Formats: sequence, C-alpha cells, structure tokens
Amino acid sequence: MRTVLSSMAVATVALGAWSAQAATISISCGAVGLELELCQQGANAWAEQTGNEVNVISTPNSATERLALYQQILAANSADIDVYQIDVIWPGTLANHFIDLAEHIPEDQISQHFPAIVENNTVDGALVAMPWFTDAGILYYRSDLLEKYGKQPPVTWQELTETAKEIQDGERAEGNDKMLGFVFQAKAYEGLTCDALEWIDSFGGGTIVAEDGSITVNNEKAAEALDLAATWIGAIAPEGVLNYSEEEARGVFQSGNAVFMRNWPYAWALGNADDSAVKGKIAVSALPKGGEDGKHTGTLGGWQLAVSKYSANAEIAADLVAYLTSYDEQKRRAIEGSYNPTIAALYEDEEVLAAVPFFGALYETFVNAVARPSKVTGAKYNQASSEFFNAAHDVLSGKASGADRLADLESTLDRLSRGGRW
Ligand code: GLC
Repeated sequence: MRTVLSSMAVATVALGAWSAQAATISISCGAVGLELELCQQGANAWAEQTGNEVNVISTPNSATERLALYQQILAANSADIDVYQIDVIWPGTLANHFIDLAEHIPEDQISQHFPAIVENNTVDGALVAMPWFTDAGILYYRSDLLEKYGKQPPVTWQELTETAKEIQDGERAEGNDKMLGFVFQAKAYEGLTCDALEWIDSFGGGTIVAEDGSITVNNEKAAEALDLAATWIGAIAPEGVLNYSEEEARGVFQSGNAVFMRNWPYAWALGNADDSAVKGKIAVSALPKGGEDGKHTGTLGGWQLAVSKYSANAEIAADLVAYLTSYDEQKRRAIEGSYNPTIAALYEDEEVLAAVPFFGALYETFVNAVARPSKVTGAKYNQASSEFFNAAHDVLSGKASGADRLADLESTLDRLSRGGRW
C-alpha cells in the first residue's frame, strides 16, 4: 500500500511539473481542400484540453513537393517540426527519422485502426506513424446531367469516354462552351502515379512492380490503358489537365464545368457545400473497369501522423498524435470534411453515414484499394514513382506510345532496382 501511495505521490509531482512546463508543438499539415482548417481546429482543441500550444505549419499540396521539403528538414535533424503528416507511401522512406509510437500510444487505441494500415506503418517492428485518414480514388459524376441525357454511371472506361463526349458536346451546343467531359490528375507528380495505376490495374495490367519485386509494368494491358487515357486529352479533357493536380480538377468540377471527375473523397464535402455550384447535383461510384473483363479499382492513398526523433518534446507530440487520430476526431473530420476514417467502426456510425453515404456504399472500394509498390521498393519508391509518372505523362502528351514508353520504363526500373533487388 505504501509503495502504491508513494508512487502516486511521485506521479502527481511529475504531472504538476509537466503541466507547469507546457510545450509548443509544431505540426505540419496538408492544405488540400479543408485539410488545414480541420487540422488547426483539432490541434487547437487538444491545446486547450492539455494546456500546451500548437503551431500548425502548412505544406505544399503536391505530395512530391511535400516529400522533398520533409527530406530537407529531416536530413538536417531539425527540431522545427515535431509532428509530420506523412503519406501512406512514405513509411519505408522516412522511418529512420521517427519514434516508435507503440511505446507511447496504448495498444487498444492502435488496434482500432485497419490492420493493413498499421502494418504498412510498421517498419522493422516500430510503429513509425499512426493512421489518420485513408483514401481511395473514386469517380464523381453529375447526376443531373446523366439523367438529362438518359445515361447510367459508366461501368467501363470505354463507356465513360463515350458518355463524357456525348454530354460535353450536348452541353456545349446548348451554350456552355466551357463544359468538359472528364477531369483528373495528369500533372507529372505523385497524383498521376495514382491515376495511371488505376487505369492499368483496372485493365488487369498489374501494379508496376509486383510484391516479389519483379517489374511487371511493361505489358499489353498496361499499354492499352495508357493509350486509351491519351485519347482523352484534347477530346474529353483539356490539354491543361496535363498540369492538373487534385485541386485544379476539383475547381473545374465544382464550378459546374465537368461531367466526370476522378478524385479522392475529400471533394465530396466541398462539392456539396453551400457555395458549390454543383451542390446536390453530384454522385460518386467506383472507378470504371478496363473493359468487360477488367475490374473496378481505386488507388490506396491516405495520411498518417509521425513524431520526429529530433523533437524536443516527443512525449507530448505523441499525445497530440493520439488525440488527432482518435475515434472522436476522425468522426468529426469524416462528417465535416469527408475524410475517410481509419477506424472500421466509424463506417457503421449513423452520423458519419448520414453525412457521407458512400462511406457505406463504397466500403469495399476503400478496403480493397490497390497499393502502390512502396513496400517492395522501400527507400527507392519515390524514384520509381517519378519514373512511372514521367512515362505516363509522356504517353498522355503524345510523345510516345504506351508500348514504347513502357519498354523504356522497364529498363530504367530494372537499373534502379539493380536487377530486382530493391
Ligand atoms: C492523396 C492521397 C495520397 C497521394 C496523393 C497524390 O493525398 O491520400 O496518398 O499520394 O493524393 O496526389
């Protein structure tokens, strides 16, 4: 009894000392759509509750640029950022810079999250990041326009190509000369890796590099997928799409000037906001199949929170991560921003489903999303992905055919992997 009491006394003293020394925790957040606002609100709520302070740092929208910035800061062992918002493809690349969160966050809180994401974020036995939200590519469409033209949501990409063209031309003839058939992400950056992987996988063309490390991207199905996508440029998509990331596509769709859009779930809340020109006129479905024999697929995306090894306040930073990734906070973000929770139970929460009905309807799309080959390529993922999105960009820009460019890509990836040993 005495020991218990005295250790309680020590704990009280320690707690007193801790609260007297409130810390300022810096967290880097994305700023795509409502991300920054929601991050700031969550961080402020934690600060108020704990007596600490937060400093929210906005980072570039492009995942490719964001990674370059993080690598610079982390390579300098800088303590400037305590908590990093990291992409689902980065644990293998950045693991060495982060603490093991399993030592700070209770097991029962970790095990609420999708096991596949927890596993993705575990490198050499250490949980280097907590899942924050997940993502999968989906198809947005104008339900009012599809109804007007008597069309069903397209089942195949070929069907999408036709429907997009017919409605685009019809609407232009009626006076909206800005109308576009399809907008997506085709700038040379990580987002194009996601879109192009969807086209290829939906045609049965694999995942660029297979789980065993073999390079599979140079195949007929993959070439067919890229060649079809190339026909969209200048026909149902503007030339400008070659420079679009998520937000450019959303801007066009949300202002009412596109029939279809490929994007992540975050565009739903914004598309249905009061200031949206398409509020109440949009719906979502799984992305189309690559032909009748193809499959519906969406690329797995998503973001995690990691604590820097160089943080002067790692323990307190981990507490912020535990708060932001919690059930209640993920619920708030799902309802207000349509960010997909990483906690399965939230997909059965009535308030969440009322705000974002497709979290229920497309549940399978989210849990079966196709992963980019980041696990097998490890620290070389970013280079491999850059080679891939540059190749896809060349095909879309008409610089090369799918078959020729993928043959080149295969040799480049082979050199990069030193014969498959990533
Ligand atoms: C989304 C995804 C992320 C992906 C990025 C590409 O933010 O969640 O995983 O890398 O888009 O633009």
